[in-house]
Amino acid sequence: EAVRAGRGVLSGKKVLVTAGGTVERIDPVRYITNDSSGKMGFAIAKAARDMGAEVVLIAARTDAPLPEGVTVQRVESAKDMYDRVMSEFTDSDIVIKAAAVADYRPEQEAPVKIKKNGDTLSLTLVKTDDILETLGQRKTSQLLIGFAAETDHVEAHALDKLRRKQCDLIVANDVTVAGAGFGADSNKVQIYNADGLVRDLPFMTKEEVAVQLLLLAAERIPVKEA
Ligand code: CTP
Ligand code: CA
Repeated sequence: EAVRAGRGVLSGKKVLVTAGGTVERIDPVRYITNDSSGKMGFAIAKAARDMGAEVVLIAARTDAPLPEGVTVQRVESAKDMYDRVMSEFTDSDIVIKAAAVADYRPEQEAPVKIKKNGDTLSLTLVKTDDILETLGQRKTSQLLIGFAAETDHVEAHALDKLRRKQCDLIVANDVTVAGAGFGADSNKVQIYNADGLVRDLPFMTKEEVAVQLLLLAAERIPVKEA
């Protein structure tokens, strides 16, 4: 069985995983989020644990049960996630950014509930900091893995993200494929590095994708200089 095959390959390694959709507050009772279920990131955290890693899971909004045997840190916003990731990043061996991070947040969070005055309401949104791009600039010996959920030109968009964010691997999935991506229990992904396609995986469960990804990652962890 695949999980058993990988048993022990990550022992002594620290794996940092982000999962779920961030929540960007508009006011105390309203927010902006996205369709991420957190399942892919949770499957990665569990598989890394089963391969012997010390796992830190930074989890934003999710309905999935939190995995056991890993250190879970709950966050809400992209800003919270950024801060948590930066403080866990330095001593990590593998960093996997499966979270769906908001690209924009409300410029201001109203301190009290917004009342329905007037026929229209405009919200000004401002760009969030890109966590993965920042990690790409700061990385020393960490293996950095990003995700790219796309609806079109999957390979081109994924490779563009890999280069822009200086990831070692990017996991691309076409979220228009039935049964794959957001909310599903299965996924159909391609994994790329800077040279191009590394694996075109068949349709499989998110648990199986997690194992395949971590087996690839394990053999690519950079050797730390003493
Ligand atoms: N990501 C991040 N911080 C952000 C936005 C995205 O760390 N503020 C990470 C995601 O966790 C994912 C990768 O970047 O691993 C790609 O996310 P994606 O939304 O596909 O890419 P974007 O660069 O945001 O581009 P776009 O949404 O326009 O496709
Ligand atoms: Ca995005």
